[in-house]
Amino acid sequence: MNTIVNIVLLLSAVLFIFGLKQLSKVKTARRGNTIAAVAMLLAMVGTLLELQLKIPGMNYTWIVGGLVIGAVIGAVFAIRVAMTSMPEMVALFNGFGGLASAIVALSIFWKRVVEPETAGTVAAVLGTPPAVTLGLSILVGGITFTGSIVALLKLQGTLKKGAPILLPGRHLLNILLGISAIGVGGWFGFGATELSVSITSIIGLTAISLVLGVLLVIPIGGADMPVVVSLLNSYSGIAASMAGFVINDPLLIIAGALVGAAGLILTQIMCVAMNRSLANVLVGGFGVQESGPQGSSEYSGVTSCGPEEAAMLLESAQSVIFVPGYGLAVAQAQHTVRELASLLEANGAKVTYAIHPVAGRMPGHMNVLLAEADVPYEQLVEMDVINPEFKNTDVSIVVGANDVVNPVAHKDPASPIYGMPILNVHHSRSVFIIKRSLSPGYAGIKNELFEYDNAMMVFGDAKKVLQGMINEFKEL
Ligand code: TAP
Repeated sequence: MNTIVNIVLLLSAVLFIFGLKQLSKVKTARRGNTIAAVAMLLAMVGTLLELQLKIPGMNYTWIVGGLVIGAVIGAVFAIRVAMTSMPEMVALFNGFGGLASAIVALSIFWKRVVEPETAGTVAAVLGTPPAVTLGLSILVGGITFTGSIVALLKLQGTLKKGAPILLPGRHLLNILLGISAIGVGGWFGFGATELSVSITSIIGLTAISLVLGVLLVIPIGGADMPVVVSLLNSYSGIAASMAGFVINDPLLIIAGALVGAAGLILTQIMCVAMNRSLANVLVGGFGVQESGPQGSSEYSGVTSCGPEEAAMLLESAQSVIFVPGYGLAVAQAQHTVRELASLLEANGAKVTYAIHPVAGRMPGHMNVLLAEADVPYEQLVEMDVINPEFKNTDVSIVVGANDVVNPVAHKDPASPIYGMPILNVHHSRSVFIIKRSLSPGYAGIKNELFEYDNAMMVFGDAKKVLQGMINEFKEL
């Protein structure tokens, strides 16, 4: 029986790695997710079998109850969540992951130190490595929990509409809290020989970690929140890995380390795509400066047209690049884009989609939406590959994108998005920009592209405008 349990747990670890690998490509991502879900199931089955071996006749009521309630809540969330609210859901799940790890560590402290009323330092009772990882699990888990809840509130705009909250002396305060956490944690593990002092210090460590989570995330603006969510995802993995050391569970150590590493890599990719350093994101305050133009008064010489004129130009286009952005997700226009693309292809045009790594509000946002509309994967082209193509393109159609096509990122060192790589749509012969108004995108700044001679605004909700273009195109 022991061998079967070990094989199940080993298989689970291998499937986690394999599933994660498949998630790195759009084409295989769906399969990767299923494989990782199977790995999770095996992890639970293996762990329950292991428990049965260790504690024969164990009562499963609480465990099964927890599994059923958790599965129902998870399924309802996953089915009901809107595509645009996915970052919020990820933030919430990260927070729960961190909380779970901290609770595991606290319960081990309770079971092994408090209940038996053991005398001596925690390190002497548990051993040095478990004492250290127990403290770290509480610290990282607590920071992840409250940090993720603040991230969730900011993404929803509930907390100061997502704007940075800059407390005076916040850096000093955070440093002092960090030092206190190390001091209290050290005292908890190695200094306190009396039980009551151990309990007081673990309460202190938990409180500091919860406060730190809030203070570390409140100065960061809503625009940077997806990066923070990805970083917190990494933290939740680290906390889980630490909890794995505490309860001596190799699978939890491996799975936690995978989440920790994957989250860090994603954070790095997002920072590079936004041309920001992680330190710059974490120090916060991005977006606190005057947020620039909010309306048409800042613009001059903007040309606009209706779907009919757009359709006429498209009829003669040999090459068309769609550039989707956040507005595509808001309008849920992915199926309509696909329909227009099919018409253009039937008319002899070459159609591709330019994918900016941070278009939308979460990594892979545009890929997911377009895959939902069955756009062939081969037509989705990454920024570096498609950028040289724009100069040979007849028409680029920007659908609800703004910051990712703003040429100011190349030109104005004072701009908050200066240095961010963009899609060079302005190199195409003509550009249609479909959006409802001249309002700015996430970065809150003017987009010079709207004033370019080869650019034409087609105002309106993306889905309605595209549908209008389709109708006009069919009439031609
Ligand atoms: P944004 O710059 O945010 O612009 C989206 C535009 O969509 C808005 O200007 C809005 O203009 C338009 N829009 C909204 N609803 C619409 C609708 N129903 N129909 C048509 N248009 C609509 O989007 P982007 O170009 O995708 O850039 C993403 C931004 O988010 C970047 O600044 C990026 O750094 C930031 N960000 C992204 C991520 C990830 S991972 N994707 C992470 C962190 C930050 P109107 O209101 O005028 O319609």
